[in-house]
Amino acid sequence: MRVLLTGGAGFIGSYLARRLLLDGHAVTIVDNLSTGKRKNVPDGADFIELDLAQSDCLKFLPSVPFDAVCHLAAQSSGPVSAEIPYYDLQANAASTLLLSRWCLQNHVPRFLYASSMAIYGNVESFPVCEDIICLPRSYYGVSKLTSEHFLRLASQEGLSVTSLRMFSVYGPGQNLGNLNQGMVSIYLAYLLRGEPVPVTGSLDRFRDFVYIDDVLDAWLGVLQMPSTPSLVYNIGTGKPTKVHELLAAQIAALHLPSDYPIYELPGSSFDQFGLYADVQRSKAELNWQPVISLEKGLEKMVAWATSQKKV
Ligand SMILES: NC(=O)c1ccc[n+]([C@@H]2O[C@H](COP(=O)([O-])OP(=O)(O)OC[C@H]3O[C@@H](n4cnc5c(N)ncnc54)[C@H](O)[C@@H]3O)[C@@H](O)[C@H]2O)c1
Repeated sequence: MRVLLTGGAGFIGSYLARRLLLDGHAVTIVDNLSTGKRKNVPDGADFIELDLAQSDCLKFLPSVPFDAVCHLAAQSSGPVSAEIPYYDLQANAASTLLLSRWCLQNHVPRFLYASSMAIYGNVESFPVCEDIICLPRSYYGVSKLTSEHFLRLASQEGLSVTSLRMFSVYGPGQNLGNLNQGMVSIYLAYLLRGEPVPVTGSLDRFRDFVYIDDVLDAWLGVLQMPSTPSLVYNIGTGKPTKVHELLAAQIAALHLPSDYPIYELPGSSFDQFGLYADVQRSKAELNWQPVISLEKGLEKMVAWATSQKKV
């Protein structure tokens, strides 16, 4: 299979690139290196440095017959989306519109999209399933939901589309220097530096933390399917973890004292209070199941992080 992979210099995209290459696929990565790193692009992948937020970007794509596009490039930070919402719209939603049109015009049959739990907003019943009405609370969530709708329209025109609504993905390789995205990696960065951990919002908020290898299995499984019965799928563990429980588990994994200093800062109006996934549809229709517990996943991530020379 020949895959055009956007965001392949980032955390999730670089994992996907390595696995695709290992499985014998040809991979072309497009990334503007805004949060991703050139060193994350694996040997064997073609690399095009390109900003997908620019309206004329697609003319720089090679005219080879791709079998699929995996669109993971995005401005991925909720706080940044509040600072520069128009850029967020261009980088996240407009890029999806352009790429999906490009696929239709160039006979690329398959499109997988990196959607997010951020599309849901604050919900009242848990776990959250794919069919509820989505009222995102952040510009980022609006852009991701808009992308899903652009893809729904493209699917009506014949593009085979699947959006994976990933919950809070974590694991080795996450950017510990980026304090704008990734709850697990942000707290871990402070803990590794021995600094008190600032928590923006309540310690009682909860999330669904899903390990990178489980997420990768979902992407690879879906890519093998010419189409999926549904357009959107939750990719989480189906288990809620409160922020203070996450911190306690990270502190334990690092063998730090249980009274390690943590302080709460006022929350953001764009933040979601709590969410965890209903993964019944993903299990039934994708034959996918998360297997890594939070404790095991954090153990692997901490082992990786402590082996790094500097944070
Ligand atoms: N990490 C999570 O918990 C999570 C959860 C849900 C959804 N997602 C989505 O998954 C995807 C990958 O997330 P990640 O955690 O690996 O983030 P990341 O920031 O590590 O990766 C995103 C990549 O996209 C690139 N990029 C950003 N804007 C671009 C642009 N305009 N043109 C080209 N490249 C651009 C970045 O340089 C980076 O390499 C994103 O779409 C993100 O929104 C992530």
